[in-house]
Amino acid sequence: MRSVRAVLPVVVLLVAACGAPATTQQAGTGDGVLVGVTMPTTSSERWIHDGQNIKRDLEKQGHRVDLRYAENDVPNQAKQIESQIADGAKLLIIASVDGSALTQPLQRAADARIPVIAYDRLLRGSPYVDYYATFENFRVGVYQAESLLTGLGLRTGDGQPGAAAGPFNIELFAGSPDDNNATFFFNGAMSVLKPYLDAGTLVVRSGQTDFNSVTTPRWDGETARKRMEGLLTTTYRRVKVNGVLSPYDGISLGILTALKNNGYGPVFPIVTGQDAELGSVKSIIADQQYSTIYKDTRELATVTALMADAVLKGRTPPQLNNLNDYDNGVKVVPAFLLNPVSVTKANYHKVLVESGYYTDDQLR
Ligand code: GAL
Repeated sequence: MRSVRAVLPVVVLLVAACGAPATTQQAGTGDGVLVGVTMPTTSSERWIHDGQNIKRDLEKQGHRVDLRYAENDVPNQAKQIESQIADGAKLLIIASVDGSALTQPLQRAADARIPVIAYDRLLRGSPYVDYYATFENFRVGVYQAESLLTGLGLRTGDGQPGAAAGPFNIELFAGSPDDNNATFFFNGAMSVLKPYLDAGTLVVRSGQTDFNSVTTPRWDGETARKRMEGLLTTTYRRVKVNGVLSPYDGISLGILTALKNNGYGPVFPIVTGQDAELGSVKSIIADQQYSTIYKDTRELATVTALMADAVLKGRTPPQLNNLNDYDNGVKVVPAFLLNPVSVTKANYHKVLVESGYYTDDQLR
């Protein structure tokens, strides 16, 4: 597995390649142009950190930043972007609520010759998306499924067959259907799980195995809790569920609440996650959630700010490493993909504390 350390030198190199001091000085003493940044919601820690990190990095470059949160309201986000255009923003960075719902503001941005960077979530259905910064989303799903197998004992940490034989009962959860990432995560996970499902080693007793029947609109934990309660009170009255594929920590916490409400614990089914949110890392340490996927939002912000700075200077960003995989339905958007890292109780300290993402105190 490639660790986050593997990518750090890349980012450092990119910073160096962009000539950070000269860049900073030039932008700092220069125009101080306005950059509009829109984020989906403050209901999840990660987006709060993402917004703060991008703002800080852009301001270090000498730019002015208008940072707004749409609180998962699609028309609100469209209005925020239009108002940033009206205020004279020279570049837009957008983490969308619904990736396909912003074609009109994107058209307006294009009319005003304002470049657009899609942040973490791809903007779909519009030719007016210049660049995309995100993580290896398919790999996130692969890591989630691999950790589910490892937790169940079907696979060892280094990818060998594990001691357990199964069969195990699992249920599947996917993210918000209007977020392009949700499909990538689910497809990545299913690429790993399918052979086990075909062989009967893993069984989805609800029969809900296709993406459309397992999505969680707006990634909402409460929606996930209700779906899990429904599954437990219908499908799992006589047998136990052994594992749950969860694509995101907020959903994982909802699933764990449903499990607790239905008599599970102190030993819990294997529940995966994503984002290394504080509550979930604590849950992992307490042997409740099994795993999460760490995506260093500091790195994503750094890369995006460097991309933005290059674009504002009329250059092609050097931070591009994927020119093929992110087709938004109208064009393939040139992207920079960072590496996610799979985290369990075994490595959380090394990955999350030693990297400075969290302190031991925060996790107590
Ligand atoms: C996705 C993102 C995940 C998670 C999820 C819910 O777009 O890639 O890391 O944050 O949204 O917010």
